[in-house]
Amino acid sequence: MRYTICYVSTATAKLDKEKVSSLLKKIEESNNKNDVKGILLYSDGNFFHVMEGEKQYILELFSEIKSDRRHTNIIQIVGKEMETTAFDGFVTDIVTDENKYDSKTFQEYLEPLEGMDPKTKEVAKRMLEVFIETSN
Ligand SMILES: Cc1cc2nc3c(=O)[nH]c(=O)nc-3n(C[C@H](O)[C@H](O)[C@H](O)COP(=O)(O)O)c2cc1C
Repeated sequence: MRYTICYVSTATAKLDKEKVSSLLKKIEESNNKNDVKGILLYSDGNFFHVMEGEKQYILELFSEIKSDRRHTNIIQIVGKEMETTAFDGFVTDIVTDENKYDSKTFQEYLEPLEGMDPKTKEVAKRMLEVFIETSN
């Protein structure tokens, strides 16, 4: 059984800007190796994360992520079983003032969410819009 989790969180002082890119790169590599799909965005001290994979793996990974001291205020928005694989890989990015109004970028962020069931996709899409809108 596949499982999807979506949450937002706040980076702590332990994670300064310089460390974000190397963390995102490491996560992207690890998730692609472990069949974890979805998207992780960082913007101005906040994270937006959608991840989908084998249920047991995802639940264990999320409990590890929740105890990671590099972020706090973890608010889970979606946690549900899925019949099929929804995504086409795992992507990470840093959203900045320069790229946040770029409609092509937004389409790229939506691509990994395409295969989700319509209801979950709508929630993820709305959250993504709010996340990008409020980033500066
Ligand atoms: C916001 C945030 C998101 C993370 N997401 C993932 C993830 O999707 N996959 C992953 O393997 N580790 C992720 N991590 C890192 C894990 O919390 C943990 O450090 C890592 O799995 C430990 O890997 P290691 O034992 O190989 O060092 C994330 C960390 C943070 C702060």
